[in-house]
Amino acid sequence: MIITFATQKGGTGKTTLAIAFSNYVSAISKRKVNVFDFDFQKSFYHKWKEDELLDIPKLYDVEIIEEDNKQPYSDFESLIKLKESDEINIFDLAGTLDVKYSDLLIYSDFIVIPFEYSNVSAKSTLVFINFLGLLESQAERIFIRSKYDKGYKYLNQEGMDAEISRYGILLKSPVYKRNCLQILDTRKLTYEQKYAVKTPFAEIIDHINNCLEITL
Ligand SMILES: Nc1ncnc2c1ncn2[C@@H]1O[C@H](COP(=O)(O)OP(=O)(O)OP(=O)(O)O)[C@@H](O)[C@H]1O
Ligand SMILES: [Mg+2]
Repeated sequence: MIITFATQKGGTGKTTLAIAFSNYVSAISKRKVNVFDFDFQKSFYHKWKEDELLDIPKLYDVEIIEEDNKQPYSDFESLIKLKESDEINIFDLAGTLDVKYSDLLIYSDFIVIPFEYSNVSAKSTLVFINFLGLLESQAERIFIRSKYDKGYKYLNQEGMDAEISRYGILLKSPVYKRNCLQILDTRKLTYEQKYAVKTPFAEIIDHINNCLEITL
């Protein structure tokens, strides 16, 4: 299967959630996890390389998809192979829309879309939803509130939630803004980090299990 972390807004927490989810799912699932860093910044890959210095075994490999490769999956075959595989293939994308992402966005089983309620972020999320519509992507859209501030009253939350829910599932639990999520590594989740993501991630996993009729 293919699970892609994407949206068109930069800095919304795609890589943070992709790392946390890869670590989380590696711990709970017997399936092999493979990560693909499809962002020119290669943040996930660099972190994973840096973590080779840690005295903890790696949980998965991270492959980079080279920038100069304009249509990395133009033959579809490798993409279909990843999609049909029982392994968990996780992609982290850049915060910019690019035609090179089209095939992946079409063939992903799930697209996890982190969003915030600021006006700019709301608009970008809607642009991204529209882009997926134009691509006629059949991927299940999973929306997740990212960097959510418990004490703050988001004025556009109600309207935005209603709009977003028309296009996919909106996870009940947000990922709150937490300092511990700013110091993730690719080898483990601390107790605190696990606590910060476990409820929304359990929702994602339930949804995947229901949609694909599997147990992750
Ligand atoms: N839940 C959170 N709590 C606190 N800080 C967070 C949280 N999620 C992300 N951040 C911080 O926000 C910043 C942007 O996060 P991240 O790099 O994951 O976003 P991104 O969507 O991958 O960005 P880009 O579009 O550049 O790839 C980072 O400094 C990260 O540590
Ligand atoms: Mg990123």
